[in-house]
Amino acid sequence: MPDKNSFDSVYQHSIEQPEAFWEEAAEAIHWDRKWDQLIDDSDSPFTRWFVGGKTNVCFNAVDRHVESGHGDQIAIIHDSAITGSQSQLTFSELKDRVSLFAGVLVQQGVGKGDRVIIYMPMVTEAVIAMLACARIGAVHSVVFGGFASNELAVRIDDCEPKVIVAASCGLEPGRVIEYKPLLDKAIELSRHRPDSCVILQRPECKAEMQAGRDIDWYDAVAQSTAADCVSMDATDPLYILYTSGTTGQPKGVVRDTAGGIVALNWTMKNIYNVNPGDVYWAASDVGWVVGHSYIVYAPLFARNTTIVFEGKPVGTPDPGTFWRVISQHNVKVLFTAPTAFRAIKKEDPNGDYLKKYDTSCLQSLFLAGERTDPDTLQWATDHLGVPVIDHWWQTETGWAICSNCPGIELLPIKQGSPTKPLPGWQMEVLDDEGKPVKRGDIGSLVAKLPLPPGTFPTLWNARDRMFESYFSRFPGYYESGDAGFIDEEGYLYVMSRTDDVINVAGHRLSTGAIEEVLASHPDVAECAVLGVNDDLKGELPLGCLVLSSGVEREDNEIIAECIALVREKIGPVAAFKLAVVVNRLPKTRSGKILRGTMKKIADNVEWKMPATIDDPVILDEITASLKTLGYAS
Ligand code: COA
Ligand code: AMP
Repeated sequence: MPDKNSFDSVYQHSIEQPEAFWEEAAEAIHWDRKWDQLIDDSDSPFTRWFVGGKTNVCFNAVDRHVESGHGDQIAIIHDSAITGSQSQLTFSELKDRVSLFAGVLVQQGVGKGDRVIIYMPMVTEAVIAMLACARIGAVHSVVFGGFASNELAVRIDDCEPKVIVAASCGLEPGRVIEYKPLLDKAIELSRHRPDSCVILQRPECKAEMQAGRDIDWYDAVAQSTAADCVSMDATDPLYILYTSGTTGQPKGVVRDTAGGIVALNWTMKNIYNVNPGDVYWAASDVGWVVGHSYIVYAPLFARNTTIVFEGKPVGTPDPGTFWRVISQHNVKVLFTAPTAFRAIKKEDPNGDYLKKYDTSCLQSLFLAGERTDPDTLQWATDHLGVPVIDHWWQTETGWAICSNCPGIELLPIKQGSPTKPLPGWQMEVLDDEGKPVKRGDIGSLVAKLPLPPGTFPTLWNARDRMFESYFSRFPGYYESGDAGFIDEEGYLYVMSRTDDVINVAGHRLSTGAIEEVLASHPDVAECAVLGVNDDLKGELPLGCLVLSSGVEREDNEIIAECIALVREKIGPVAAFKLAVVVNRLPKTRSGKILRGTMKKIADNVEWKMPATIDDPVILDEITASLKTLGYAS
């Protein structure tokens, strides 16, 4: 048996005896029926876990805690730093509200396997809607509020929801974002039409309702009859979450039922070191994977109190907001993105706001979404006085690939590393030919198959794309799309992406998708989008535009239109505000745009003249153009 206080021993056990390891983890959740086969790898890489088992996600997150006598424990605290309001729900109250909303969905004809899109800001009802879908076996797809109508329409067409659940508005500092007009436009743009839309009218803005299609949340709930949990196959899909790939068509990452419950439940004690009853806060958004796994599902599976926070780390109203939430709600673990801490550090470098609050309840801080830079790690460690743990994961994986695990054994923290591969993950670093590199050398970060439970079993409607994107280049491995290295002590380092995905404020964006929008501008002949370094957001997209010949309008006018177009087509979340007109783009002799070299020039880091470049003089022109935006100098 492994030594439960030794990380290496637990890890080794998971690799040598994966069945025993995951069987033990699976014993900790509720099953309507146990599995026949723990792992079915007959269709690798499309691995299935707990085949033949039956359970329900909502039952594991809510009902079982009520049935075990914990109905009075607080399940959700909603804290809006924008409106100044707070509210909370016990597990019993949550069960009642979820059951009634599940009844609304049933009345709208939603059943097992039907899709429901949820387009909502950080309100408790977003969590209720997700759990209600899980309760009746519907597949939810949450779309982040910062995406524009066009992006919402793409998702509507891909997953074909029977019902869309939305709120009248989201609240950003200083402005109300009306969601309903965005939703109406998305439905207009899409080929598929939902049967109905359930709209939560928020007090800040009343949405106009479309007769015959739109239903008021509260009216519908008032007339609803509670719906019970439906027993689902372990491998039935729980949700689809769209994420950026290299093209404008997002990838619909699917999560299945039992693997997610088992893995996420395991992480709460072992990675985050929280016990039932503790307060856990993931300061993210329900529209991202962090929100799915760590605002909603994992804390509720593990009977933690979860915080649904509407606000920003700064400006709502000041850089002390996070400390206020921690001390007021007795938060034991905070999980957020490094960019949030960079924002706080910038406004409060000496931690003066922190001194106003007692944050002694905080046990550790977990960061993910992008690499934690050493400065931020140091600042957070010095000011909070708790372990600051960088951990690496992706929408596809649903939980961390690498992390320090204080719940097992806190290993020494090394700056720039998310520590070691977690149980279930066998990581290797391969060169372009698929051969392992020497220890310490950089290559593609890959995971040996099979992937552990809780990871994505497929992409929605895109099995071939799944194979092509993740499993074709290195047979027998999952290609993470990240590059990095593993040091002599087995610590892994994530250095960059190997594709055209960039990371803006912890959000994953496709430069290809932004290029598609820019190229649709009538005056743009060609373009390239780079992710340039940014002190606050990690990276920012910067567009280099080549105009069509004969265009005689002012560059600035066209740039402004391009910026507005990206905001309209992709949404404000793209944070696309930098663009420059250039005469030509640097290319290889075979016509490939040298984006990597352009990025290095923009970031002012060492670069080599590519041997295959068509015309080196273009790089001087590009450098001069980037300088006009304050880059390349
Ligand atoms: N609905 C509508 N618009 C939204 C939105 C939403 N749900 N969320 C963000 N936006 C808008 C913002 O208002 C902003 O618009 P602007 O260009 O008019 O200012 C734009 O989208 C970019 O938003 P954001 O990336 O949040 O930038 P910001 O400048 O408002 O805040 C940070 C910067 C660093 C404070 C912020 O990104 C942050 O708190 N990040 C935390 C990290 C995080 O949540 N990561 C998720 C994965 S863990
Ligand atoms: P997402 O799917 O949106 O969560 O984005 C996943 C991507 O974010 C990863 O592939 C990495 O490129 C990056 N990422 C997430 N966490 C980390 C981390 N701790 N260190 C470095 N990069 C990270």
